[in-house]
Amino acid sequence: MEALRDFILPPAKSTVASEVDALFWFVHLSSLVLTIGILVALAYFLYKYRRKSENDVTPVITHNNKLEVTWSVIPLIITLVVFGWGFQTYVTMTTPPDDAYEINVTAQKWLWNFTYENGARSTGELHVPADRPVKLIMSSNDVIHSFFVPDYRIKQDVVPGRYTETWFRVPEAGESIIFCTEYCGTGHSDMYGKVIVHEQGEFENWLASNQGGGSKPDDLAPAEWGEQLAQEQACATCHSADGSQMTGPTWQGLFGSNRQFTDGNSAEADENYLRTSILNPNDEIVEGYQPVMPSYQGQLNDEQINAIIEYIKTLN
Ligand code: CUA
Repeated sequence: MEALRDFILPPAKSTVASEVDALFWFVHLSSLVLTIGILVALAYFLYKYRRKSENDVTPVITHNNKLEVTWSVIPLIITLVVFGWGFQTYVTMTTPPDDAYEINVTAQKWLWNFTYENGARSTGELHVPADRPVKLIMSSNDVIHSFFVPDYRIKQDVVPGRYTETWFRVPEAGESIIFCTEYCGTGHSDMYGKVIVHEQGEFENWLASNQGGGSKPDDLAPAEWGEQLAQEQACATCHSADGSQMTGPTWQGLFGSNRQFTDGNSAEADENYLRTSILNPNDEIVEGYQPVMPSYQGQLNDEQINAIIEYIKTLN
């Protein structure tokens, strides 16, 4: 039974998940019991009232009050239970506790940005403390996206021009996947991220180490740090490092190459070109690509931009 349960549903990691699952099972198992009951009765009646002889006549039965009241009242009760239960769960899911830790979420084609109370930022990875309610205040820079963490059983549309909210509390440290579950363009299927749930003390450490936008860890060369940033900042969602065709130009052989723009101009992809492309990506559009890259202005500091450029140089 447990194996079947785990096969049907992802692990229930947030406090609200077990409530959602209980309702899910009630709706599905009661539907299953009713369906089996109806099919058994159908088979029985087919057999019982089959035509037995040439001049067999169907009995004329106009109604049966007791039976009709029974089959109306039982489904009505089940429906009311599902409504009351569902409403209660809905209220729990949409009412974050007052002491919730707040994180701002910005969705854009095709990545998730997170900003924390102390000014720390992260892209693609949402860092949260274990066993503490976390409230997400979400908005979109472009089109409608939807924030979905199957393990937590929460899903919320993220809409441009307004804020939507969701919250969760995860008792145990661990990792879960975030999906975008609103079709938002070519990169929709690549728009996933990760929630990393830290033990209480570790989360504070992570926050402290990320305050102020981050500087290079001592044990990494600039290009190595650049590679790490390219993953963290979701550059790799659109830019391949091995020449394969993705949403944006590949980084393999990019440095020093000649770029042809849609307005007829061209430029050599030197340091200045790469820097401008990261900060104001849509000033010039490269032939054959769509102007979909978000600006990283305010998102990456100079040291980080330099590291990413160093990394791009190593791909020649
Ligand atoms: Cu964002 Cu789909």
